[in-house]
Amino acid sequence: MLICHCNIIQEKEIEAAIVALLDADPWQLIVPAKIYHSLGKRGRCCGCFPNVVEIIIRVTEEYHRRSRIDGDDIVPFLDRVRGLRGHYGSRDHERRKAGHRAA
Ligand code: FES
Repeated sequence: MLICHCNIIQEKEIEAAIVALLDADPWQLIVPAKIYHSLGKRGRCCGCFPNVVEIIIRVTEEYHRRSRIDGDDIVPFLDRVRGLRGHYGSRDHERRKAGHRAA
């Protein structure tokens, strides 16, 4: 599925970039700009960032669930990852105002 229309980035490319970053350091906080930098791209309109945040949360949770890291450490870490929703917004609004109507 195409996530970023400005840079033509597929969901699988973003997932692979997240896993590569987590392999390098499982406890780093991954933000959309870090993923785009690792792909050699830059956010332009950044309208895709809320969707990228949801992918970060899902892939990070799956990654740590598969790993054998102590569960007590995972909970506060995943809370930090979920905190990205507040910073970048959720999948629901994609930086649009409440009264926004497409076409
Ligand atoms: S849709 Fe990703 S930067 Fe515009």
